[in-house]
Amino acid sequence: MSRIFSGVQPSGDLHLGNYLGALKNWVRLQNDYECLYCVVDLHAVTVWQDPTELASSTREVAAGLIAAGLDPKSNIIFNQSQVSQHAELAWLFNCVARLGWLNRMTQFKEKAGKNSENASVGLYAYPNLMAADILLYKATHVPVGEDQKQHLELARDIAQKFNNDYAVDLFPLPEPLILGAATRVMSLKDGASKMSKSDPSENSRINMIDNADTIARKIRKAKTDPDSLPDTVAGLEGRPEAANLLNIFAALADAPIEDVVAAHAGKQFSEFKQTLSDLAVEVLAPVGVEMARLMEDAGYLDSVLADGADRARAIAQPNLEEVFKVMGFLNPRG
Ligand code: TYM
Repeated sequence: MSRIFSGVQPSGDLHLGNYLGALKNWVRLQNDYECLYCVVDLHAVTVWQDPTELASSTREVAAGLIAAGLDPKSNIIFNQSQVSQHAELAWLFNCVARLGWLNRMTQFKEKAGKNSENASVGLYAYPNLMAADILLYKATHVPVGEDQKQHLELARDIAQKFNNDYAVDLFPLPEPLILGAATRVMSLKDGASKMSKSDPSENSRINMIDNADTIARKIRKAKTDPDSLPDTVAGLEGRPEAANLLNIFAALADAPIEDVVAAHAGKQFSEFKQTLSDLAVEVLAPVGVEMARLMEDAGYLDSVLADGADRARAIAQPNLEEVFKVMGFLNPRG
C-alpha cells in the first residue's frame, strides 16, 4: 500500500518556497494516496523558539495547509509533539544511524554555520527524527522540495540498515517525490540563496499570509539583471534571478518552463514582473485570506490537530511495538 508522509516546521511564516515546493503538490496528491501531513514542532525546537509563539506558529502552519486545499478529513493533519512515538523511534534511530552519515549532512553545516560547537545536539540528530517521522508510518512516498533530498537518502539508509541488522523486511525504503517547476525557489533578493523562513530580509520571500499589495510590491522589488528575458531555457544559464522568476511563474501557472520562456521571450523585466505579480496575487492572495480567517478560529485548528493526532497515533503505536519486538525489548504485558 502507498502512504505519504511529509512535514513542515512551525519556525516562521510559510512562504512561496513551502507552497510551490511542498504544499501545492500535497494538495494534488491527496486524492491518490493515504496522506499524513505533520507540523513538525519537535524539529522546530532544534533552534531556539520563543515559547510564547510556538503554539500560534503551529496553528498558523495548520491554517496554511488547510487554506492551501488539504482536506483535514481525508488527510491526517497533526502536530508532531502530540504523538510521542516520533521521539521514541527517533531515539532508536540514533542508535542505528552512524556518525559518519550525519557528518555528511549539508543542511546541518549550513544551519550551524561557523559556530557548530554551539549548535544543539538536536540540530545534529535532526535527520534521524525526520527518518522516524516517515518510517513510523511505513510511508512509501515523501513529497518535499529539493533541499530535503539528502535527508530522504539518510532515511532510506536507516531503513535499510535496520532491515539488514535485524534480518527483517519491516521498513519500506521511502521514495522522494520532488515535483513541479519550482523544487528550489530562490530568494527574491539573491538568486544564489534559497528562499527561507530564516532570511532576515522580509523582501527575500513572499509569505503565504501576505496580502495582494505586499505580494505585488515584493515582486516589483525583486532583484533582476539588466538584460531582457531570453528566448530559450538555455539562455537562463548564469542568470539565477531570471531563472527563479520564470520558474516561479511556471509553477504558479502549472505550465512547462519552455512554454513560459517562449511566451515572454525578449520582454523587459518590468513588463514580465507585472504579469507575474498578477498571477501570484490571483493564486496566493485567496489562500492568504483563508489562512487569516482560519487563524481567527484557534478552537477549530486545535480540533483538527487533536483529531489528526489520534488518527496518527493509531497507526504509529502498533508499528512502534513491532520495532520494539524485533529489537528484543522486554514487554511483560506481552
Ligand atoms: P521545512 O519546514 O524547511 O520546509 C517544508 C517543505 O517546504 C520545502 N521548501 C522549499 N521548496 C522549494 N523551495 C524552497 N525555497 C523551499 N523551502 C522549503 C521543503 O523542501 C519541505 O518540503 N525537514 C523538513 C521537515 C520534515 C519532514 C519530515 C519532511 C520533518 N520531518 C518528514 C518530510 C518528511 C523541513 O525542515 O522542512
